[in-house]
Amino acid sequence: MGSLTQNARRCVTRTPCTTSTCKAASDNIKIGNVEIKSCLALAPMAGITDMPLRQLVRKFSKNCLLTTEMISSEMLMQNRPDEHEKITVFKNNEYPLAFQISGHKPFMMAKAAKILADKGASIIDINMGCPVKKVVSGGDGSALMRTPQLAADIVKAVKDTVDIPVTVKFRLGYTASEQNFMEFASLMQSAGADAMTIHCRTRSQMYSGNADWGAIAQIKKEIRVPVFANGDIVSPETAKECLEKAGTDGIAVARGVLGQPDLIYRIEHYLSTGEILPEPDIVQKIELLKEHISDEIKLRGEKVAMQFVRKFYPYYIRGIRDAAIYRGRLVTETDFNRVMEILDLIAKTETAAI
Ligand SMILES: Cc1cc2nc3c(=O)[nH]c(=O)nc-3n(C[C@H](O)[C@H](O)[C@H](O)COP(=O)(O)O)c2cc1C
Repeated sequence: MGSLTQNARRCVTRTPCTTSTCKAASDNIKIGNVEIKSCLALAPMAGITDMPLRQLVRKFSKNCLLTTEMISSEMLMQNRPDEHEKITVFKNNEYPLAFQISGHKPFMMAKAAKILADKGASIIDINMGCPVKKVVSGGDGSALMRTPQLAADIVKAVKDTVDIPVTVKFRLGYTASEQNFMEFASLMQSAGADAMTIHCRTRSQMYSGNADWGAIAQIKKEIRVPVFANGDIVSPETAKECLEKAGTDGIAVARGVLGQPDLIYRIEHYLSTGEILPEPDIVQKIELLKEHISDEIKLRGEKVAMQFVRKFYPYYIRGIRDAAIYRGRLVTETDFNRVMEILDLIAKTETAAI
């Protein structure tokens, strides 16, 4: 069996991709003074886009913009290093790397941004899209779409405090009848935002229903800073469709990387060459999962890591025969060696079946 990188060089399909969208999509994107040699970003996911996951994405995509998990400005101010260290730790190969902050108090957000800029962030991204009740009830996340002036004040305060680019991530609006993304985008740009990512759903939709990429088709007529479209990009083909429908400079991928951390690389490759690269096979996925587990253990220690990684198992073994049985065994197992045995068994059984 060849390595994943070797396999990735073997193209299974070549679909010439000559549209202007694809050509534009393979161009670099400049966010303030930060040059991204890709039009792809890893979108932030709390509890997911930690250093080990970002390292796996970077193993394949050398140039995409990576983003940390959301970091609460209030938590950062409490100065309990052991609590936020695991969220803010990174390696130099992760650049360009955006740190995402959440909160609703401009001075707190500015202070948090300063700490993270000093720590080495390339970009500060501000969360204005989180739909979770606990978050919005405090006025953070997508609640800021209902308080646009406060959202603008946050951007201004952060811009005045750090000398790195500041970006915002928001949704179409709070509810279907409050889709204010266009005015909101203009206001964020006027406040100084250097780029923005739009998750093409409303807050009320949470994560259900299809992302409506076409809803933001007009955005580039008004917004001159780079815009990334986000939501439901799970393959090279959906990436291309999203770019064509949304007409944005770039795209941000979140859940699509679960179980396939090479997805962003495969999308980049497709957009620039028209080649569809093969997805990793199950043996390669198991190798990636083992690497993921081992990096989580280095970050969190074995006991915590073995609980933490349970959420990832279903994605890596999705689609194999008896996936439900293996999943059931893996998610109840806390012993590292036993998990490795189950993973080896899956790889062996699947290889024998080919
Ligand atoms: C588990 C999980 C955690 C998330 N955490 C964040 C977050 O911390 N900050 C943020 O802006 N969006 C967060 N999101 C939203 C994603 O960045 C993205 O906007 C959303 O999942 C839609 O994109 P996708 O269809 O590519 O997943 C999260 C999503 C998920 C599923």
